Amino acid sequence: MLTNLKAQPADKILALMAMYRDDPRPTKIDLGVGVYKNAEGVTPVMRAVKTAERRLVEEQTTKSYVALAGDPAFSAAMTDLLLADSVDRARIAAIATPGGTGAVRQAFELIKGASPTARVWVSNPTWPNHVSILNHLQIETVKYRYFDTETRGVDFDGMIEDLNAATPGDVVLLHGCCHNPTGANLNLTQWQSVIDLLNEKGLIPMIDIAYQGFGDGLEEDAAATRLVASSVPECLIAASCSKNFGVYRERTGMLMAISENADNTAVTQGNLNHLNRQNYSFPPDHGARVVTTILTDDALRADWAAELEETRLSMLNLREQLASELQRLSGSDRFGFLAQHRGMFSQLGTTPDMVERLRAEHGIYMVSDSRLNIAGLNAVTVPILAKAIVETGI
Ligand code: LMR
Repeated sequence: MLTNLKAQPADKILALMAMYRDDPRPTKIDLGVGVYKNAEGVTPVMRAVKTAERRLVEEQTTKSYVALAGDPAFSAAMTDLLLADSVDRARIAAIATPGGTGAVRQAFELIKGASPTARVWVSNPTWPNHVSILNHLQIETVKYRYFDTETRGVDFDGMIEDLNAATPGDVVLLHGCCHNPTGANLNLTQWQSVIDLLNEKGLIPMIDIAYQGFGDGLEEDAAATRLVASSVPECLIAASCSKNFGVYRERTGMLMAISENADNTAVTQGNLNHLNRQNYSFPPDHGARVVTTILTDDALRADWAAELEETRLSMLNLREQLASELQRLSGSDRFGFLAQHRGMFSQLGTTPDMVERLRAEHGIYMVSDSRLNIAGLNAVTVPILAKAIVETGI
């Protein structure tokens, strides 16, 4: 049986992690996988996470099963964080999932179960694993224009033109903030136009939000998600705690499904529970409990928000440093977009050949689509990267 298996293509982000690990050059720089690193190159455990974990070790009395949907207190705390008062709670069904990827996978399965012929529209480009999971589930995927390789901003006219070809019942996958991989985002006026189009054409939005707090702030980064969720009859939201709580390996995420009216919520919730049961039974609890502990304790929450804000500001600062160093070395403003982008990533908009040259000649690792992880930089490596970019002729 196993001899029938065909080799699977490697995930390009994870393959890069392995290549970096195996590179013996001491000067190598990792701008690949989306993991926050501080100025010392360390991905720290956040202070509030450590405190919450200590508290759990002291106070937790059982590790028995919780519920198929996870702890209701986690769903409630995450719903408050993401949606505040924008949507009637009675319309929301939610499950805890293993990370944001788990939420994305369960959302796609829900779509397939509810509407087997629905197509899913994804931005071009999008996080490669979106497309990979859709292919795995044999869901038809259509790309809409998103990134303008000239301006390195959003090709909004192209996006709207493409989405006009969607048919009622199709799903449109949108990044709630901090677009991955490009770093280019819609403004709220553009979001409103997208919402008008969704409603006009009967399309269902699915929002993937994995970087709340990494762009313009916790509230600001949730604004588009809240606007969409409060303006459409149905909406799916896949949220990740990996980055903003730094609990990557704990696999902590949540899928929300908002129904048109409260009468439908129980059936939707039952379907979400069923999906968890079929795929892995109970979702992981530790990370979710840590997040709930933080979000429901005023002092811990304030400390977490402060540390997240420091993280956000350090990334913004690196963006500005890199843009100005490139301006200085190249004598042109063509890299100004780096300071305009938000979140962990920016897409340089260069070719895979140039990216390969940066790796081979300078030991600089970025994803072949020219996505770079801003948080992988520090004050020492910014000038090295800028010099390499200019020398390579990007
Ligand atoms: C990324 O885009 O680098 C992260 O979301 C990590 C991953 O799983 O790909």
